[in-house]
Amino acid sequence: MKLAIVGGGSTYTPELIDGFARHRSALPLEELVLVDPDPRRLELVGGMARRMLAHAGHPVTLTTTSDVRAGVDGADAVLLQLRVGGQDARSADETWPHEAHCIGQETTGPGGLAKALRTVPVALSIADVVREHARPGAWIVDFTNPVGIVTRALLEAGHRAVGLCNVAIGFQRRFAAALGVPADDVLLGHVGLNHLTWERSAVVGGVDQLPGLLSERLGELAEEVELPAPLLAQLAAVPSYYLRYYYAHDEVLAEQLAAPTRADAVRAIERELLDLYADPRTVTKPEALERRGGAFYSEAAVELLVQMSSSAGSPLDSPAGRPRVVNLRNDGALPFLPDDHVVEVPAVFHDGRFVARDVEEVPVEAQGLVAAVAAYERLALEAAVHGGRERVLSAMRSHPLVLQHERAEKLTDLLLAENARFLPWA
Ligand code: G6P
Ligand code: MN
Repeated sequence: MKLAIVGGGSTYTPELIDGFARHRSALPLEELVLVDPDPRRLELVGGMARRMLAHAGHPVTLTTTSDVRAGVDGADAVLLQLRVGGQDARSADETWPHEAHCIGQETTGPGGLAKALRTVPVALSIADVVREHARPGAWIVDFTNPVGIVTRALLEAGHRAVGLCNVAIGFQRRFAAALGVPADDVLLGHVGLNHLTWERSAVVGGVDQLPGLLSERLGELAEEVELPAPLLAQLAAVPSYYLRYYYAHDEVLAEQLAAPTRADAVRAIERELLDLYADPRTVTKPEALERRGGAFYSEAAVELLVQMSSSAGSPLDSPAGRPRVVNLRNDGALPFLPDDHVVEVPAVFHDGRFVARDVEEVPVEAQGLVAAVAAYERLALEAAVHGGRERVLSAMRSHPLVLQHERAEKLTDLLLAENARFLPWA
């Protein structure tokens, strides 16, 4: 199997390599290509990846290139994990929304809209190259944020794509550890849109263990998602920590105004990581990588690739047919959203495609929020594909954290001024 990783110069890549090395019997990779526009990143991350693979005795051939076409040529699957504009653009996304009393975040709210506008055209042009040059039928696995919008952009353009995020697998692993069972035994009732999800159940051997977890470990669970314990108790669900930007908006804004941005923190971690990657003595995934947000990212990717690498997929009831959380076309899974929206729910790979399975209902009190964010995502995609200030303004105003017209006007001006170099139409 040939796998290409576009954005392979990311400091996350050694996380993936670690997963490939640990699961090499399940995922027989023969060729791995890191594709990245930054030659220095390719040298450092590529060197690190090579040492890790050699250390693990993995026979895969690893190459690096800045040429997307050469990189994806003949690939069986392509992972997209790029960040247009890097941490600099992210740092802007995390700060200019403050001028309109709104949180600054890379995927949620006005910052997320900016990221969508910068990213969708790039993801689509890479996907066109994949369609031309990868093996016919090759899948695109998208980690590129905002995952919901980017995945929908790819699907609407007719690509074979599935979106992946590590939030669900993070909950699965934590619940499993708390329950003292293997992670694979926990079936998550994870539902919503990417970065807007709730865990409504955690079924082990046919029994939902979430009520027990919520009563015995409420404080711990609430602390992990940085939300008030009574909120989790009242919802009888665990919201993802991205729900903080809604349920605790003003508190988060106050914190952000008093602290350096996440982009700043990540820049410092990345400097440290790149120094370690440059050191020939580093041959395994450095601990410092755990300070980045991508925990279990490799597990999620490997599980998915294993599941997909059989062309037909697994029978629905086999262990390999166990549902795993992905971003896919709604098709009725969330009945109050259009069929062609992209939702994040458990699904199995069957007959060469992903099929939603065992989907819980979105908590009734959150259905309005999910519908509003879905409408925003649709307008954001329109703006990203077709450009134009009016479309950006409409998407901005539709976001539930914005809503007010004057605020939307102001945020639109800020977004366009900050992102002009990425938006040819602006
Ligand atoms: C989590 C999210 C990812 C996001 C990452 C950011 O893993 O699921 O979508 O990219 O956090 O991590 P960072 O270390 O860049 O803040
Ligand atoms: Mn994510």
